[in-house]
Amino acid sequence: MAAWDDKTAQGYADKWGDDPSIFAVLERVRIAPDARVLDVGCGTGSALRHLAGDTRQLTGVDPTPRLVEIARAAGGATYFEAPAEALPVADGSVDVLLALNSIHHWEDQSAGLREARRVLTPGGLIVLGGEAFGSDMLPGGQDYTPALEAHGFTEITREEGEGFFVQTARRGDV
Ligand SMILES: C[S@@+](CC[C@H](N)C(=O)[O-])C[C@H]1O[C@@H](n2cnc3c(N)ncnc32)[C@H](O)[C@@H]1O
Repeated sequence: MAAWDDKTAQGYADKWGDDPSIFAVLERVRIAPDARVLDVGCGTGSALRHLAGDTRQLTGVDPTPRLVEIARAAGGATYFEAPAEALPVADGSVDVLLALNSIHHWEDQSAGLREARRVLTPGGLIVLGGEAFGSDMLPGGQDYTPALEAHGFTEITREEGEGFFVQTARRGDV
């Protein structure tokens, strides 16, 4: 799925913009105060605002114009209108890449994970997570281990909690 129209975007922002799964995931990952964080498919930017306040460099990207507009108005980070498959970010410039409630919306997961690997620093952390869906909603499931391995990620972890999942991996330095 690519960019959403304004009505869909506004509906999402009003109803799910501060989904509890976002904060459940962020509670489970340790992000250093000086980390450079990129949120891919950032929506309204609520994850980045939750992380703001330290000295972190926070950037969000999302292909949906209305959501980027809402995120920019709320502040807390720098936002770009872009999809996971073409990140407007330099090679090796990101310590932590978040994709919360996001990867199943990417048009091309393989291209998105290739981009994630490109922009992460060696040893950098990718965090996939968000609301846990049953196979009725997502027939492919939410265990991205094979895809992460195929794109050179290592130290893969996965956890499920009440209503959410979190999967992390590090960019191998090969
Ligand atoms: C369910 S929302 C999640 C937003 C936010 N991360 C959150 O948890 O509230 C899915 C997001 O994926 C975005 N999206 C759709 N296609 C995408 C793509 N190809 N690359 C990155 N994000 C995409 C949508 O615009 C939307 O903001």
